[in-house]
Amino acid sequence: MKIAMILFIGFLLVMCVFPANTIAEERDFNKGKKLYLKYCEKCHGQEGKGDGYTLFNPPVADLTSPEIQKKTDAELWHGVHEGIPNTAMGTWRFVLSDEEINSVLAFLRSFGH
Ligand code: HEC
Repeated sequence: MKIAMILFIGFLLVMCVFPANTIAEERDFNKGKKLYLKYCEKCHGQEGKGDGYTLFNPPVADLTSPEIQKKTDAELWHGVHEGIPNTAMGTWRFVLSDEEINSVLAFLRSFGH
């Protein structure tokens, strides 16, 4: 009985320190990072600076730049989902689910800080 009580209080304390949504965001971030390294890093570079594959014209976007970071999630989502016409940035809608694109965007936001 005592142990159950201690476990319960411990659980409450953990929930105070890590509210459920932080844990969810953390999971999205890690998932997004994995997807980014798998699919996007080749062109956009490990730190998103657009220094992966540098011979495209127009060049690969620098995802750390204010021009990209000031775009809304919806705009970036659209760019990833549909691709950017006449550039090397293709559509990812056949590769990534809607939710996976959200995860990748959660990771992309970390380039702005
Ligand atoms: C084959 C190379 C290539 C790959 C792979 C690639 N990109 Fe891109 N990406 C580009 C290029 C080139 C641009 C710049 C397009 C332009 O000039 O508008 C770009 C632009 C972008 C932009 C900016 C879009 C905007 O609104 O201006 C985002 C966000 C982005 N890429 C995310 C991703 C993500 C996420 C992935 C992986 C799922 C990815 N890219 C994979 C080449 C690539």
